[in-house]
Amino acid sequence: MSNVLVLYESNNRGYTQKMAEFVAEGVSGVPGVRVRLLSNDQAQTKDLYWADGLALGSPTNLGGISWRMKKWWDERSFDTWGELDGKLACTFSSSGAWGGGSEHACQALTTLLMNFGMLVFGVTDYVAPKMSPHYGAVCAGEPRSDAEKEMCRRLGLRLAEWCAVYVAGQPGAHPKLAAYDRSIKHS
Ligand SMILES: Cc1cc2nc3c(=O)[nH]c(=O)nc-3n(C[C@H](O)[C@H](O)[C@H](O)COP(=O)(O)O)c2cc1C
Repeated sequence: MSNVLVLYESNNRGYTQKMAEFVAEGVSGVPGVRVRLLSNDQAQTKDLYWADGLALGSPTNLGGISWRMKKWWDERSFDTWGELDGKLACTFSSSGAWGGGSEHACQALTTLLMNFGMLVFGVTDYVAPKMSPHYGAVCAGEPRSDAEKEMCRRLGLRLAEWCAVYVAGQPGAHPKLAAYDRSIKHS
């Protein structure tokens, strides 16, 4: 068994929360992986310790992390820094616009996770033509199209797969052995 925490902040319209729900749905696609879906208002330090894998989401605010999510980590850094090394992690962000900085926000979240010693991964799969969560799942507004929803799900699925392989010791969960389509789709 392994544990995944989907931790998000959503301050405007609940769009990052919608992404988080699809990420959590993707995690549930791997048997034996437990998932907790928690906002920054709900999550506590003990949830970080519980997690083997962490999907971290923030709205894109001024091209970066929302101040509320940054504050959540700032307030825990003295207690938890040095205690979270080696956890598997990935990121997601909702922005107002495509090109509005959501990948910058994912990179900022990645930097934060790396600071805590976590192992952050990207995803090479295409979930639709020209749609891939290379550096994390990104969305303008909420995920509406099937491809946008699948991008979020695929991120969570991949996190769960890596947890199964590297935490629970289940080599059969490796994505290269997966039944779903990982190929590059051309439009
Ligand atoms: C303070 C603030 C800063 C923002 N900065 C950006 C930005 O740099 N780029 C962008 O595309 N959208 C920006 N937005 C829009 C949000 O990223 C967008 O509405 C997002 O979907 C909100 O997600 P949420 O409903 O989970 O809060 C900003 C919104 C706020 C409130």
